[in-house]
Amino acid sequence: MIDIAFDKPAMPRSGAVALLIAEGAAPAGIAAELDHALSGALTRAMHASDFTGKHCQTIAMPAPGDGLDRIVLVGLGKLAEINAHRVEEAGAAAAAALRRDPTARLAADGLGAVLLAHAGLGARLRSYRFARYRTREAAEKKPKLRQITILTEDAARARGAWAPLAALAAGVERTRDLVSEPANILTPMEFAARTAALAELGVKIEVFDQRDMEKLGFGALLGVAQGSSNPPRMVVMQWLGASKAANAGKLGKKPAKAKAYNPIVFVGKGVTFDTGGISIKPSAGMEEMKWDMAGAGTVTGLMAALAGRRARVDAVGLIGLVENMPSGAAQRPGDVVTSYSGQTIEVLNTDAEGRLVLADVLAYAQKRFAPRAMIDLATLTGAIVVALGHENAGLFCNDDALSEQLIAAGRQTGEAVWRMPLGRAYDKLLDSDIADVKNISGSRAGGAVTAAQFLQRFVDTKKAHLPWAHLDIAGVAWASKDNGVTPKGATAFGVRLLDRLVTEHYEH
Ligand code: BES
Ligand code: MN
Ligand code: ZN
Repeated sequence: MIDIAFDKPAMPRSGAVALLIAEGAAPAGIAAELDHALSGALTRAMHASDFTGKHCQTIAMPAPGDGLDRIVLVGLGKLAEINAHRVEEAGAAAAAALRRDPTARLAADGLGAVLLAHAGLGARLRSYRFARYRTREAAEKKPKLRQITILTEDAARARGAWAPLAALAAGVERTRDLVSEPANILTPMEFAARTAALAELGVKIEVFDQRDMEKLGFGALLGVAQGSSNPPRMVVMQWLGASKAANAGKLGKKPAKAKAYNPIVFVGKGVTFDTGGISIKPSAGMEEMKWDMAGAGTVTGLMAALAGRRARVDAVGLIGLVENMPSGAAQRPGDVVTSYSGQTIEVLNTDAEGRLVLADVLAYAQKRFAPRAMIDLATLTGAIVVALGHENAGLFCNDDALSEQLIAAGRQTGEAVWRMPLGRAYDKLLDSDIADVKNISGSRAGGAVTAAQFLQRFVDTKKAHLPWAHLDIAGVAWASKDNGVTPKGATAFGVRLLDRLVTEHYEH
């Protein structure tokens, strides 16, 4: 993790400097001073490399003179198109170009303190690395960047804007750490143990073990878990940022003032490894299924971000943690299980396990918390990757207003979501011959939709309308190459998206 600091502008005489420059703009401010000190070398380099300031266009000048180690120029794009996320991406490009420099300064003529703080967010997010298991990496291969000092006249205001962004970055990093861990380390028990750290941020943590879930009647989740020698867990994380007084100390109970407690609820699929179970997956690429807990990882990082920035919202995160393994104890295709909701499920394919885990956690979340809105995240289907590739998460939603809010938050954060359909005709495909519902439709057609449709059977009640959204993040939870503010690997998709949703619509 790199450190982001803020200071008054001064001519840099040593170290490295990143200059963010708008499209078509001549060097101004510190960039102009540097250009002058270097006898016009900056302007010449811009011309020689056709640098026009296009968004994220980057040139790096090593040892440009005047005691400097490096100057990096990064395009901000057209001034008319500037927004927080585009500045984050420019900050990310700068950080990527500065990875050889231990410390650097960053300046952008014409950007205010708040946008400059966002440049810091982009730089920090892009500099993330999961290095826990590297024991003998050559020094010249290790990134050296430790600190970026952002130069601004209004350093105090920039620090103020940075504080919540630093909490958001920490949430993203927590998610990436969880999602990157191999499955031999991050078992359901270990995942649950790691959520305890959120208590330091003021989050109430409850861990449910196998016995607890047996008592509750979580037949769907436990059916998935029974093939593994790593026992399952469910974790409930409560952040009471809006109704703290009314709810303090009421862990595990309905708050005294039920009306004051109207939380937004997030639910995550946490399959710490998905072999497919008895409906076993082919071996090629199966290692990817260590990140089948990305939904749960995102919910955990999101709760850390909300608590870390003291968001004025009541939010609950629930994660269902299981390992899907084949064994003599494993669930068989054709088994019938009874879910927490009371509905029986015919399990025709043990590899459609995420929906079984979510069925119980969604029903429990709804019953216990009576949410004002409920959003689940899951690496649920390969079919959503076929449909949308790696550019959009699939959004399934029973409420047009919530759907629009999520789409807008996606545009603002660069975590794009694309709405997919739900409907009665799809729902009918899940009618079972011997139980209330079956866990696959029996055809690959519309596979992401029928998966969402299965979840909806455990969401919609006859009672009040509950705005619910399901995000299928199978195509976006992991990146095969560096892109914008995300280095390759675990993206933490959804943390920034849902943090923004909360800021815009659920905080008061
Ligand atoms: N975890 C997988 C979905 C997945 C696939 C996530 C690729 C990330 C990348 C899920 O549990 C699964 O196996 N889904 C099946 C459903 C099928 C059996 C109906 C799938 O997509 O093939
Ligand atoms: Mn599966
Ligand atoms: Zn899975």
